[in-house]
Amino acid sequence: MNVALIGSQGQLGSDLASCLNDVTALTRDQLDITDENSVRNCLANIDADIVINAAAYNFVDKAEDEPDLAYRANALGPWCLAKLCAEEDKTLVHVSSDYVFAGDRQRSKPYDETDRPTPTSAYAISKLAGEQYVQAYCPKHFVVRTCGLYGHAALRGRGKGNFVETMLRLGSERDQLSIVDDQRCTPTATADLAKGIVDLLKSNEFGLYHLTNDGDMTWFEFAAEIFRAAGIDVELTPITTEQFGAQADRPRYSVLSNNRAQQLGISLPHWKDALGEYLAERNG
Ligand SMILES: NC(=O)c1ccc[n+]([C@@H]2O[C@H](COP(=O)([O-])OP(=O)(O)OC[C@H]3O[C@@H](n4cnc5c(N)ncnc54)[C@H](OP(=O)(O)O)[C@@H]3O)[C@@H](O)[C@H]2O)c1
Repeated sequence: MNVALIGSQGQLGSDLASCLNDVTALTRDQLDITDENSVRNCLANIDADIVINAAAYNFVDKAEDEPDLAYRANALGPWCLAKLCAEEDKTLVHVSSDYVFAGDRQRSKPYDETDRPTPTSAYAISKLAGEQYVQAYCPKHFVVRTCGLYGHAALRGRGKGNFVETMLRLGSERDQLSIVDDQRCTPTATADLAKGIVDLLKSNEFGLYHLTNDGDMTWFEFAAEIFRAAGIDVELTPITTEQFGAQADRPRYSVLSNNRAQQLGISLPHWKDALGEYLAERNG
């Protein structure tokens, strides 16, 4: 398979580039997803039968002030890609987010692909619109919803950073940290997600998929495991989403069921193993 990879310098994009053999890895300078001419001109020069979109506007809080920018990158960009891929009979892989679900505190059942999305932020609305454009316009699509990504590209200053790197930095600066303990989800290593996406592509079973590491946790539980595994001594205090006071709302429960991917034989490691692997590689 010949792949054109958009957003190749981000966390997921970098790991996808390492997993793929015949890949044209595109930077934002080469293809700006918010510019239809840039998308058309760039892809016209690449002999690819698959387009993977790993680019996105990922600033969840800032999107409340600039929903137009989020929508252009996360919805209209995928709309343009979907039309182009459909015209040329290409397969389009597009990545979306667990934030399409609102998830209240009482919920304890992982969301599957048939659950109705209920986004509660400008970012989440833009991501839902993007996946719907892809589903509506491009018959040969994989829409992959995932959660809380962390990959080594963040360490190289690419993308918006990630929770693991933020914790390691804060843990070296402070003795005490307050971490949100009422959002349950499954942060996922991009190294694992990239392999899962490559396996999905081999299946040719187009459609919507949830793909995360296995298990679930709160950010407080994740932070505790990061510090335990990294051998850093920090006093952690659990707080609520309201106490943290971020600008955009977040789902209190957005665990995704990976059953559909598992039926194709695709399953990602448990989140604790994924974190251990990430930290070992980071320090190796
Ligand atoms: N990060 C998460 O926690 C998370 C959670 C759920 C789902 N997702 C989804 O997973 C996918 C991958 O996320 P990620 O964390 O790997 O992202 P990331 O590290 O933030 O990387 C995003 C990439 O997109 C590029 N980009 C941004 N705007 C662009 C534009 N207008 N045209 C072309 N390229 C552009 C960035 O380029 P520059 O490097 O030049 O800025 C960067 O390389 C995205 O669809 C994201 O919404 C992410």
